[in-house]
Amino acid sequence: MKLMRVLNGEAISPPPVWLMRQAGRYLSEYRAVRGQAGDFISLCLNPELAAEVTLQPIRRYGFDAAILFSDILILPMALGQGLRFAEGEGPLLPPLQNSAGLNIAAAPGVYAPVLETVRRVRAALPPQTALIGFAGGPATVACYMLDGKGGGDFPRTRALAYENSALVQSVLDILVEATITYLQGQITAGANCVMLFESWAGIFPASQFRQFVIEPNRRIVSALKSANPGLKIIGFPRLCGLLLGEYVRETGVDAVSLDTVTDPAAAIAACPPGTVFQGNLDPLLLKSGGAALETGVARLLQAFRGTPHVFNLGHGITPDVPPENIARLMELIRNNAMPA
Ligand code: CP3
Repeated sequence: MKLMRVLNGEAISPPPVWLMRQAGRYLSEYRAVRGQAGDFISLCLNPELAAEVTLQPIRRYGFDAAILFSDILILPMALGQGLRFAEGEGPLLPPLQNSAGLNIAAAPGVYAPVLETVRRVRAALPPQTALIGFAGGPATVACYMLDGKGGGDFPRTRALAYENSALVQSVLDILVEATITYLQGQITAGANCVMLFESWAGIFPASQFRQFVIEPNRRIVSALKSANPGLKIIGFPRLCGLLLGEYVRETGVDAVSLDTVTDPAAAIAACPPGTVFQGNLDPLLLKSGGAALETGVARLLQAFRGTPHVFNLGHGITPDVPPENIARLMELIRNNAMPA
């Protein structure tokens, strides 16, 4: 598996490629299955249909990795918090008042179908295609649990971080424990590596970033790595700016997924030797296509030349991307082989 070779530290040209949100509304075959499932949560909890949409982008484009089709908010739902996806509004949860009602013991029963999806996908994938399991980073999941919705900068969570940090910490402690068990379940079910989506890492000031992002991520990485020798973990501390090097060093992740704004050379200089990088093409270029896409891809391949690199976006594919631009992207990457 090309992805696993790179996560083990090898620089390969052309690099392995997969894209965040590669299964999604930009694909007509996804929209068809999503219609069949009814709503998004039912799709996440239906192993047959979730496996199908996980495999769709692999069949269409031949990506080097599949990512489990689910959502980071399935875990709080499994812990007992209500969750719904209002059409066009994104996720909605009743904002958490205290952590007493969260039930860690009940969670595996609720997310069992997701682990069944992992088993089915691994059995159906070509042997050279890696399967990535994932969970939300605790800080990001706590943001949605405490604010009840996204779309802003999580004002309640940020206020609570100052006014009731014990509540924030208690939610994070529960999420750390539940996330370790959840990801261990995915690994046992056949995931080849795992990724932590800490998409809202960048809303915290530095001292809180250390407490609420780095420390919980470190605990998850450390527990999973001691239970699974050789396991590779990708972190995505989106918008963490100058704290990138500290995040990688202190959490112990093997690879870091870079957001769109991060300069590859600056990231390489900031991270410990041996760090593997993933990213970070601007998803907007997939909408634009044409010469802008060609230049962006060439620049990125050049920037990571000689460095272990997994080609990806800086954030997820948007629903308005023309599918033919992804085919063009794959052609550009795979025809751009350079001596590593
Ligand atoms: O990447 C993949 O293809 C794997 C599946 C995946 C989804 N969400 C599917 C999804 C993964 C890894 C996620 C992660 C996720 N979910 C994150 C972290 C990454 C990031 O984007 O920052 C976050 C913050 C969420 C929470 C979430 N889920 C939001 C805010 C939304 C609404 C936004 C939107 O695009 O509608 C979702 C819904 C969601 N998750 C969709 C998909 C395919 C769209 C649902 C639909 O079909 O209507």
